Amino acid sequence: MKARSGAGKVMAKARQTAGPAASSGASWLVTVLVVHGPNLNLLGEREPEVYGRTRLADINKELKNLGRELEMRVETFQSNSEGGIVDRIQKARGKCDVLLINPGAYTHTSVAIRDAIQAVSIPVIEVHLSNVYRREAFRHHSTIADIAHGRIMGFGAQSYSLALRAARTLAEEARRRSV
Ligand code: DQA
Repeated sequence: MKARSGAGKVMAKARQTAGPAASSGASWLVTVLVVHGPNLNLLGEREPEVYGRTRLADINKELKNLGRELEMRVETFQSNSEGGIVDRIQKARGKCDVLLINPGAYTHTSVAIRDAIQAVSIPVIEVHLSNVYRREAFRHHSTIADIAHGRIMGFGAQSYSLALRAARTLAEEARRRSV
């Protein structure tokens, strides 16, 4: 096989690293941002009967491994503050193909997170470890449910890997529409 020129190498590298896939050719790596909201840094210790025993670091590791398998670049972020989450979503504008978000308790209250999602125009999958409809009534309302492409909940840590697989399909559909 012919060796790549310097420029060829740079282009190949760019094809492997830059997103979003939807606005580019077929060989771009799909980039997914996973955002975890408040108190999810305590997963594994926090109410394990509700949220399971898997730690956040293990969920993130598993998502990165699955991402490699599915040829997706997975970035993860956790914050206990609403502003931190809004800033991270804004930073993803034009750089991510799909946003997976578990806003934690902000799911039920945050107009700021909803506005940030709408501002960046990135397709969103809402994720929850628990099935919020089997819990207190105040958890039944989500400020982002109607702007999410879909919602996955109730499968514990596996909710995230199911969502990542769904993100792959979502990005492929967006790419097909854009070419
Ligand atoms: C949660 C459900 C929310 O009601 C709660 O405040 C959380 C976690 C879940 O993943 O099940 O922090 O988003």
